[in-house]
Amino acid sequence: MAPSDELLTRFDLTDPAFIAAPYPVLAELRAGAPMFWYEPSQQWMVTRWDAVHGALRDRRLGRIYTHRYTHAELGRPAPDPRWSDFVESERWSLLNLEPPDHTRLRSLVTKVFTPSAVAALRPMIEELSATVLAPLVEGGGFELLTGYAQPYSVAVICSMLGVPREDTQLLLDWSHAIVKMYELTTTDEQRGAANTAARDFVAYTRALLADKRRRPDDLLVSQLVAVEEAGERLTEDEIVCTTIVLLNAGHEATVNTLGNGMRALMLHPGEWARVTSGAVTARTAVEEMVRWDTPVQLFERWVLEEGVAVGGVELQVGDEIAMLFGSANRDPDHFPDPDRFDAGRGDATHVGFGGGTHFCIGAPLARLELEVSLATLASLAPGLVLAAEPSYNPTFVIRGLTGLELAVG
Ligand code: HEM
Repeated sequence: MAPSDELLTRFDLTDPAFIAAPYPVLAELRAGAPMFWYEPSQQWMVTRWDAVHGALRDRRLGRIYTHRYTHAELGRPAPDPRWSDFVESERWSLLNLEPPDHTRLRSLVTKVFTPSAVAALRPMIEELSATVLAPLVEGGGFELLTGYAQPYSVAVICSMLGVPREDTQLLLDWSHAIVKMYELTTTDEQRGAANTAARDFVAYTRALLADKRRRPDDLLVSQLVAVEEAGERLTEDEIVCTTIVLLNAGHEATVNTLGNGMRALMLHPGEWARVTSGAVTARTAVEEMVRWDTPVQLFERWVLEEGVAVGGVELQVGDEIAMLFGSANRDPDHFPDPDRFDAGRGDATHVGFGGGTHFCIGAPLARLELEVSLATLASLAPGLVLAAEPSYNPTFVIRGLTGLELAVG
């Protein structure tokens, strides 16, 4: 059943009230239909877990269509030349590739992010977590995102890639500007800022590659520079885009998960007590943090072939779907009592990390970073409480807090 006009006015991605509390609206939309047409963005919105889960694995859908069709063939506008630096910075991003290029690039990066390779980083990550958190806890109160999560998460991804940690603030500023491009409500001013950030980020990464050629180390960027798989060298543009996507994706969602998830735990003190007492392990609680208030709320796919149906609706080549991950993760047909935050639920079948060929390459790292953070917070500051009412950034696709003020208690 198509949603009523009244319900659609409440699904307003620009409305701070919707962004602050999207789940009741998403529940109504999901109860009405597995997929509905959304005129403002000209997309089909997918609401239910089984439809999202299926779409993620359907190879007839793609993150892009340009490997198969021209813009004109699908009646779509060509990219706006004003934002060409942004387009260039993402041209070879894993998120914008489909096989065979996707397979070739992803196989080079996967090795570094296998669960066992990531597990070997645990001592370094634990030490970093304690080093950043201890002085904040001693101070009696702190803002979790800028005080802890951002410097910690950027330091981890920089250590893996071989990027200087002194550049943390530059990287944060660029990625915060660039992620605005993924919203459905971006203004031209934000697009201009994202374009400038992308241009500077590309120049920075090219200089970094030149440095790695002169002074190689054994970390990921150097490995990419040196790699020659199946006799085929990577191009510099491919390495630049891969480095940028890993640096950006490597902290934005992790930081937002920690913020959203710690907010959830602070709002449910009984659940926080289960974590601090050890009744629920940090590893288990992390899965519920990603499910219950997922930081990546929406991701898109293009229909590349005839005969594709999602949620029972037959689609045409060139149609675009937007999968509502936050809605799928609260689907009562898949998760019992889905609105309940249950730190011990331990259900990893949520779609917070996507699925199929574009499944989050950083998921093992994100899980480890979040687990270590939660364990460190629980051991150094078990009496944590909210010090102020948190609020959400005015963006829906990447959904996270402006900050999370905590008191050590
Ligand atoms: C809790 C934290 C994280 C969440 C919730 C998350 C979420 C996601 C999601 C939903 C996708 C799939 C997008 C799609 O299907 O279109 C994805 C892809 C990706 N993520 Fe993550 N991510 C997280 C952390 C990370 C980290 C730490 C890294 C890097 C080290 C990373 C790197 C990537 C990359 C490179 C892709 C693209 C993979 C591909 O297209 O083949 N992510 N992530």
